[in-house]
Amino acid sequence: MAGPGAQGHRAVPLLLLLLLGTQTVAKGPLVFVALVFRHGDRAPLASYPLDPHKEAAPTLWPRGLGQLTGEGVRQQLELGRFLRNRYQHFLSPEYWREEVYIRSTDFDRTLESALANLAGLYPEAAPGTPESSWRPIPVHTVPVTEDKLLRFPARSCPRYRELLREATEATEYQAALEGWTDFLIRLGNSTGLSLVGEPLRRAWKVLDTLICQKAHSLPLPAWASPDVLRTLTQISALDIGAHVGPPRAAEKAQLTGGILLDAILANFSRTQHLGLPLKMVMYSAHDSTLLALQGALGLYDGHTPPYAACLGFEFQRHRGDQDEEEGNVTISLFYRNDSSRPPLTLRLPGCPDPCTLGRFRQLTAPARPPAHGIPCHSLHEPAATPAATMVPLLAGAVAVLAALSMGLGLLAWRPSCPGAWGGPV
Ligand SMILES: *[C@@H]1O[C@H](CO)[C@@H](O)[C@H](O)[C@H]1NC(C)=O
Ligand SMILES: *[C@@H]1O[C@H](CO)[C@@H](O)[C@H](O)[C@H]1NC(C)=O
Ligand SMILES: *[C@@H]1O[C@H](CO)[C@@H](O)[C@H](O)[C@H]1NC(C)=O
Ligand SMILES: *[C@@H]1O[C@H](CO)[C@@H](O)[C@H](O)[C@H]1NC(C)=O
Repeated sequence: MAGPGAQGHRAVPLLLLLLLGTQTVAKGPLVFVALVFRHGDRAPLASYPLDPHKEAAPTLWPRGLGQLTGEGVRQQLELGRFLRNRYQHFLSPEYWREEVYIRSTDFDRTLESALANLAGLYPEAAPGTPESSWRPIPVHTVPVTEDKLLRFPARSCPRYRELLREATEATEYQAALEGWTDFLIRLGNSTGLSLVGEPLRRAWKVLDTLICQKAHSLPLPAWASPDVLRTLTQISALDIGAHVGPPRAAEKAQLTGGILLDAILANFSRTQHLGLPLKMVMYSAHDSTLLALQGALGLYDGHTPPYAACLGFEFQRHRGDQDEEEGNVTISLFYRNDSSRPPLTLRLPGCPDPCTLGRFRQLTAPARPPAHGIPCHSLHEPAATPAATMVPLLAGAVAVLAALSMGLGLLAWRPSCPGAWGGPV
């Protein structure tokens, strides 16, 4: 990764630094974009024993459980068209392999989503293009077991499991769980599922099935009242919070979303230093990917990213000095989670929008993996290296946001499929 101000121009005028430090920086021309989006609408991942729609599943979901639906394809096409519109003066009109790189997780629904998105972004890949000019756009992937970027080594990572245990053994978590005991027993009764062992994870799966059915206008069983759905959403938010929020949110991020964040920053730096024509990297992934990234940015607020939600990093360069990357480059974050509105501008806690790259790096450093590698080893193993220290600033921001979301986010019930941390969804 590029060191700050590695090549010359050490004597940055103090006045200029002060100005940069205190005032909002105007946006300069866009030089690089990284996009991370969730796949489109999909079939439920599973059924449950007493699911009234179980028998009809093959007709309801002809492509199979967990697969992208026609609606999901349209959502991605729409996202691609939005991106074309946003970047029409930035990207070449036609696909050029040096300029754009697209990577997906190795799941049918994310691969298809990437292809549908690109059909909206590039005219030559669009549906209805005359056969003589039609060109599909390539999407890269790696096997699920080797995907360190978009699927995290969380489950196979002893340190992450320790951190998760710490979160789930915390008093607040246990108290919340205890409050839901009767609810979970009733849920077990209504669904025919055994909820012992991993009650929360199974509860999500039920929620996922119900939400997908509801999104496709199927009648829900009588027990699945709005109240029950709301409680299931709260349960799911508690569990997501344990995965990406406090305690030790920054350390969790180093093992999950911080890896992707680091890759995005490294990608930008390398491109600039080598003078490569690369302008955009697109990642087609899961809500778990977005949630982990939000956790790493201190921006998780209790909302599960809906289908085709897109988080964008836009790098702008000011005053065109190639060597002074840190002070002259800013990053803006946008989040598009509602196709009927302009995307939200997100602010990294502690930094105005746009945030200078130097400050962005500094604030996110605790959430990104250390240079010597991803610290997965358990602290209780003899050869363990010192624990990554938690930086109070970022962790504090996460805690505040998480606390807020407990009050706000949980009330806002939205019909979209929730995340199942047991696997990317
Ligand atoms: C589920 O609840 C019904 C009605 O309360 C009860 O009759 C039945 O025994 C329960 N079933 C199980 C498996 O607990
Ligand atoms: C950017 O990231 C992509 C995918 O993560 C990777 O394949 C590519 O080599 C990177 N390019 C640069 C210049 O870092
Ligand atoms: C930004 O670019 C200008 C013009 O090239 C240069 O004078 C300045 O030192 C650079 N760095 C910062 C932090 O503004
Ligand atoms: C979009 O995200 C914002 C911020 O997390 C949230 O307040 C809003 O409810 C979300 N909207 C939808 C439609 O998901």
